[in-house]
Amino acid sequence: MALPPEARQSPLMQTLRWTLRPLAFMQDCREQLGDSFSLSFLGFERPMVLISDPVAIKALYTERANGLPPGRNIILEPILGSQSVLLLEGAEHLARRKLMLPPFHGERMRSYEGVLDEIVGAEIDSWPLRREFPIHSSMQAITLEAILRIVFGVADGPRLERLRGMLGTVLTETASPRAQLIGLATRRFRGGNVLARFEGQLREVDELLFAEIAEHRAKPDLERRDDILSMLMLAQFEDGGRMSDKELRDQLMTLLLAGHETTATALAWTFDLLLRHPEPLQRLRDSLEAGEEDYLRATISESLRLRPVLPLAGRRLAKELAVDGLTLPAGTDVSPAIWLTHTRADLYPEPFAFRPERFLGDGPESYAWIPFGGGVRRCLGASFAEFEMRIVLREVLTRCDLHKADPAPEKTGRRNITLSPKGGTPVVVTGRRPAREPLVTV
Ligand code: HEM
Repeated sequence: MALPPEARQSPLMQTLRWTLRPLAFMQDCREQLGDSFSLSFLGFERPMVLISDPVAIKALYTERANGLPPGRNIILEPILGSQSVLLLEGAEHLARRKLMLPPFHGERMRSYEGVLDEIVGAEIDSWPLRREFPIHSSMQAITLEAILRIVFGVADGPRLERLRGMLGTVLTETASPRAQLIGLATRRFRGGNVLARFEGQLREVDELLFAEIAEHRAKPDLERRDDILSMLMLAQFEDGGRMSDKELRDQLMTLLLAGHETTATALAWTFDLLLRHPEPLQRLRDSLEAGEEDYLRATISESLRLRPVLPLAGRRLAKELAVDGLTLPAGTDVSPAIWLTHTRADLYPEPFAFRPERFLGDGPESYAWIPFGGGVRRCLGASFAEFEMRIVLREVLTRCDLHKADPAPEKTGRRNITLSPKGGTPVVVTGRRPAREPLVTV
């Protein structure tokens, strides 16, 4: 059985183009090879088939027996650990998802609003006036703090300080395309892993996490706490068992890695888009002043459409899949090309225009908007991410007069596995209002 046509370069060249100029590479492939094509990456034994037809994507994501292609493990396993929900498969994976979904349920988000308001408010107060700074780093500071306080439940104090510093270092050092290329190359040629270099730092982070877990276990008010670690600690598998300390550590690292950079990057892209489009920006400001949320939600959806943070969320086929007149055999690695799906002219007229209005009303057809993947592996933190983005955008846009330092669109670069704004989205704040007074209930 044949695979769709393959890019005509060596695996080394394909890997370089994929790593260094991913969007241009995908666009070239679409133009030269059609909607479905195959890529060969250095370090992988078989090609990855990329698809962008929502019907095929739906078939791929709704087949529960499909597994994971090996890509996730290469970079992530040494840091996330063997029990990470992001890496487990089959029944083991589903058991973790069942336990981890309730704290991330949409309705729970309201209880995190106060902490998020506080984190965002403090960050805005720290911004310089009339001096350029990269808003991406600022968004990273917010999303790291949100995970440490809401997910890990770490209280203010020396451990929070140390975790903030250590995690910042590990996340930055593993972020560059260079680190990833070395990771792929060493796996192929020496069987080693780039993360070996960070073992010392990871051990230190683990010590801090295990100390936090032990402290949580001893808390008399564990059952009343609403940080996510407390909830995971109390949650029971079907056989009545609970997560061990080692597993809790793996899930914390997973939530950190899956939720920190992704949300910060999505926010940076949203600012890049909004600050270059005065009409949607004004409409958003007006709607926020009027206390409405629909346009805010639509803006976030449109930003995640045009600038999806992750390019791929693939599966290894458990059985055949029909794509573009071909039948892909079981065992093939297949991924939606998320950006190519989101920029199909038949799904989104004028696909490269930033138009939040598209998402007012009915929204796109199913599996045409997939920034969070789909099926039984769909992003666990999607509601959390969108809620956090709404709070950040609302606070920043109602409190600050904000401008892009450079009017040109940001180029796409890479950090970890994300597609991120290469220049960090430099902005200038020309005016800042004080935080809203909290409501006093009488
Ligand atoms: C805008 C921000 C985010 C984006 C774009 C994003 C995107 C994704 C994508 C594409 C996947 C793979 C889905 C698939 O294979 O079908 C994923 C998985 C996951 N995400 Fe997110 N994510 C974001 C934020 C978060 C946050 C805030 C958290 C948690 C704090 C989180 C936790 C996870 C977890 C645990 C998984 C693995 C799910 C599984 O394998 O069952 N993500 N995310």
